[in-house]
Amino acid sequence: MKIDHIGIAVKTLSEAAKTYEDTLGLKRSSEDQVEEQGVRLAMLDIGESRLELLEPTRPDSPIGKFLSKRGEGLHHIALQVENIELMLANLKAAGIRLIDEKPRSGAHNSRVAFIHPSSTHGVLLELVQYGE
Ligand code: CO
Repeated sequence: MKIDHIGIAVKTLSEAAKTYEDTLGLKRSSEDQVEEQGVRLAMLDIGESRLELLEPTRPDSPIGKFLSKRGEGLHHIALQVENIELMLANLKAAGIRLIDEKPRSGAHNSRVAFIHPSSTHGVLLELVQYGE
């Protein structure tokens, strides 16, 4: 297992990306928009993991609600796993509260699932599995 990326909620993606590029010298590797989740995102490579900047495309999206409640900042930590189904089954059996009981499709040929922060000491966790 390793940290795939760290998600950061931001008001304006272009401004935030520029800050990280200009001040830390990070490079933007991709940009995506997921309309279903009401989010626009940019990935900045950092070592073998990445920062994921998340900007809401509408105020009532999950990131929009997060921003109005908590402001900009750390949103989630994503862990790369080998077998997301097995991991979810084990977590569920252990009584961990899951946001996604089944993986949904994510960017770059991945499947993702979120774990509720109430079960992980206040941190929203995302599991990511690439490929089949
Ligand atoms: Co993420």
